[in-house]
Amino acid sequence: MASPRSILLLLAVVPLATAYFRLPSPWGWKCNRENGRCEKFDDDGVSGHITLNHCKLTCGQYGVIWPQPKLVTLGNEVNYFLPTNVSNKITCQGEVCSLLQEGIGLFKGNLNRYHPECTNGSASFKGPWEKDVKEHQILLDIRVTGGETSLGFDTDESYTLTVTTLEGTTTALITAVSFFGARHGLETLTQLVEYDELRDSLQIVNSASVNDAPAFKYRGILLDTSRNFFSIKSIERTLDAMAANKLNTFHWHITDSHSYPLYLDSLPKMAWWGAYTARQVYTPADVRAIVHYGRVRGIRVLPEFDAPAHVGNGWQWAEKAGLGKLAVCVNREPWQSYCVEPPCGQFNLANPKLYDVLDIMYQEWIDIFSPIDSFHYGGDEVNLNCWNTTDEVTQWMDAEGFGRDADAYYKQWSVFQEKSRQLVTKANGGKEVPGIIWTSHLTEAGHVDKYLDPAKYIIQIWTKGDDPLIGELLQKGYRVIFSNYDAWYLDCGFGAWVGEGNNWCSPYKGWQTVYDNSPTNISRTLTANNNYGNQILGGEAALWSEQADEESLDARLWPRGSALAERLWTNPTTNWEPAEFRLIHQRQRLVNRGIQADRIQPQWCHQNDGLCYL
Ligand SMILES: *[C@@H]1O[C@H](CO)[C@@H](O)[C@H](O)[C@H]1NC(C)=O
Ligand SMILES: *[C@@H]1O[C@H](CO)[C@@H](O)[C@H](O)[C@H]1NC(C)=O
Ligand SMILES: *[C@@H]1O[C@H](CO)[C@@H](O)[C@H](O)[C@H]1NC(C)=O
Ligand SMILES: *[C@@H]1O[C@H](CO)[C@@H](O)[C@H](O)[C@H]1NC(C)=O
Repeated sequence: MASPRSILLLLAVVPLATAYFRLPSPWGWKCNRENGRCEKFDDDGVSGHITLNHCKLTCGQYGVIWPQPKLVTLGNEVNYFLPTNVSNKITCQGEVCSLLQEGIGLFKGNLNRYHPECTNGSASFKGPWEKDVKEHQILLDIRVTGGETSLGFDTDESYTLTVTTLEGTTTALITAVSFFGARHGLETLTQLVEYDELRDSLQIVNSASVNDAPAFKYRGILLDTSRNFFSIKSIERTLDAMAANKLNTFHWHITDSHSYPLYLDSLPKMAWWGAYTARQVYTPADVRAIVHYGRVRGIRVLPEFDAPAHVGNGWQWAEKAGLGKLAVCVNREPWQSYCVEPPCGQFNLANPKLYDVLDIMYQEWIDIFSPIDSFHYGGDEVNLNCWNTTDEVTQWMDAEGFGRDADAYYKQWSVFQEKSRQLVTKANGGKEVPGIIWTSHLTEAGHVDKYLDPAKYIIQIWTKGDDPLIGELLQKGYRVIFSNYDAWYLDCGFGAWVGEGNNWCSPYKGWQTVYDNSPTNISRTLTANNNYGNQILGGEAALWSEQADEESLDARLWPRGSALAERLWTNPTTNWEPAEFRLIHQRQRLVNRGIQADRIQPQWCHQNDGLCYL
């Protein structure tokens, strides 16, 4: 207990209205090395205590690195430095060098953002303990052996990071085969750095050794920009947050039946008719800029052009232009009879001009997204009743002698799919890339291989994690991406938007559910414990945007996207519990970097590791 006299003394010297307290906090933290937790204690500001951030950086097996690396050892001490005292040397070839220079620029920008005043170079040591610090240098030494400049399924994303301190310099050596590995190494390095409030400086762990590589090749976030529009700025913010979590695929569900916001030079009428407003469009230059923005952050931008269902608004131009109807059932009522949600719309397979337009459209899509290493065709939720109640389609089915039962329609859908694949291949200069397609009628149990060649298609699973179809797909040799909605749909758990009550896939998927969804375990369970490891490309969390736009984007995606990232990068054998302290810190880090990630606990829990338990 403080004596009344010391209380009076404190009251006398504490200035009340400064940006920060000039006196050291009475609280200190120490690392409990047995359980890796930072413990808060009353230090009275005298015993040379360490701050919360110092403790977090150096406590526990992984410090506050997220996602957890494969192998890591961390020192216990830190060195204080200013962002202006970071220099670098790089060993690389060709275009990799300019990507690395950009990557280093991002690294420095992130260090600046840790500082509460985001000083961007003008920092100086100040604060209660400023006098103990001497100028300290950080030297980045980055060595990349390979020349790859765009991410593919075979890209080596591994890296090593070695941090050593000798006198006044801390050297961070990063080695990698690819730029993408080196970039991940820089990301890990930013997670060995934190702000120090006693010196108003940055601090870096004095020694570390990290050997790291991802468990899965495909680690994605889906954003739907058709149901609602998202500005370029908000997409960039999403890519920033993905980079901070080593997620590598931005799956852009760019169009749907609601709107077609992509402006194409070759088909300007699509967006004129299809965008919500003239300002809510992505130009070819915007798309190219986003592709580059992603690349320097280690992210492939994967375009999805969902068809033959999920098309509608925008396609009305064709009839006016004398091409006939390219899409049918557009905005047709009552919607319940013709699609899964309003507004309806589906391609008109009876109109051969559809393929002339798709030819032009795919050319421009592939051009602006290039280079592509895969293409997403969507391919979900075709409504047979739409086609079967549209005279033009039924007359064509009859005239061609196809018949009109369900199999006849599925057959024509698969013909459409193959023609689309050939148009994409043509647009891509004749180079075939794997097609990705959602689980749908075409992938249904028993007949998927009748329609889709496992050598050409990757299946993205959006049914539940106990769907026996997953086992069948693996046994038939398909490569799969997991997005099972019972864990990885981030739009679930809000009020309904058609009718009342909760939305269709409620409840909300908490970060723990996201974290514990293990593609490996699901596959083992559904295949009598077989190992189809190399067919499981990875997974993706989906943000369908009926009920989100850029105002709610960050809080919907983060920190749950971080939970996904650790499942896919590390695939830990443990559940969420041991990851909790690091996740809370990762959320804080995202906030420092300008992402409005959701709060998941009181700040008290961040300061008292392990005490918010059930
Ligand atoms: C370190 O940063 C300080 C403050 O910006 C600057 O004055 C000093 O020249 C830097 N030292 C080196 C070696 O870059
Ligand atoms: C810091 O300054 C540089 C050069 O003036 C600028 O390019 C960069 O965007 C700034 N970064 C931040 C985080 O403000
Ligand atoms: C399409 O309509 C015809 C005639 O009404 C019917 O016989 C057929 O079963 C329908 N097909 C499907 C897939 O519903
Ligand atoms: C996956 O299965 C293994 C073996 O049964 C188990 O130890 C592990 O906890 C499971 N992982 C998750 C995230 O549930």
